[in-house]
Amino acid sequence: MTDINILSEQEIKQNLLDCYKNFDIKIFDILSSTNDFAKELINSNTFKNGTTIIANSQTEGRGRFARKFYSPANTGIYFSSILKISLPIQDVSLITIISAIAVCKAITKHTNLKPKIKWINDIYLNNKKICGILVENISDSTNLKSKGIVVGIGINSSTENFPKDIENKAGSIMYNKLSRNKLIAEIINNLFDLAKDVYDKKIIEEYKSLSLVLNKEITYTKNNKFYTATAIDINNNGNLIVKDSNNNVIVLENEETSINFATQNLTLNYQL
Ligand code: BTN
Repeated sequence: MTDINILSEQEIKQNLLDCYKNFDIKIFDILSSTNDFAKELINSNTFKNGTTIIANSQTEGRGRFARKFYSPANTGIYFSSILKISLPIQDVSLITIISAIAVCKAITKHTNLKPKIKWINDIYLNNKKICGILVENISDSTNLKSKGIVVGIGINSSTENFPKDIENKAGSIMYNKLSRNKLIAEIINNLFDLAKDVYDKKIIEEYKSLSLVLNKEITYTKNNKFYTATAIDINNNGNLIVKDSNNNVIVLENEETSINFATQNLTLNYQL
């Protein structure tokens, strides 16, 4: 009997759509960071669209703002897929948008659970972060367009004990008999399908339908001051639109959100 916990190139490929079966899938027991490995491939110009680097554990798993991503062996999914795609740099955040949708849809398909997206790159289930996404762009020689984009995805599948600093915030999917291989394949299928047209208006609509923040009151900081506002929309560039108590509409970009579970409000740390 196949152990559902063993990462297997064969099982991943069996579950990829026909058009993606030729993707290179490389599995490692341990890596510093799958994103770093993928970026090296792009920088050395030896990369193919769809190449996916998977690690059973990472010693230097990274999140946004150089935060660590806890990546213990056997209980998580840590991988980076390379998109060989030429996008204007300002549109690379749309790749984060499609990646978040790809993860949510895949989890729902395989577990029937309904995770939500905390704008812009975190996936939550039962008020706990179960997944983080780190999209990194390698620019072409003009510096205006991407040459390759790394989509790094970290999912807590069945991790039970987290380090003290994240133990109140982090959670896991905890779904009996969830195959890491099938979930990885499903995310790849969704991601590359959505990447065919990142400007499709339906994408933002789908992202909004999965949003944890829309229509909620949030607090955010700007120049070290706290503000309270209501998240009212996500525009076509993936920016979060908020409205304050004076009905001023503010567009938030290059941002970070975090949820305050004590009040059930959403706290958004907006860093300028
Ligand atoms: C975040 O929480 O801000 C994003 C976390 C992204 C973690 C994944 S795990 C696979 C890939 N390799 C990394 O070093 N980071 C991403």
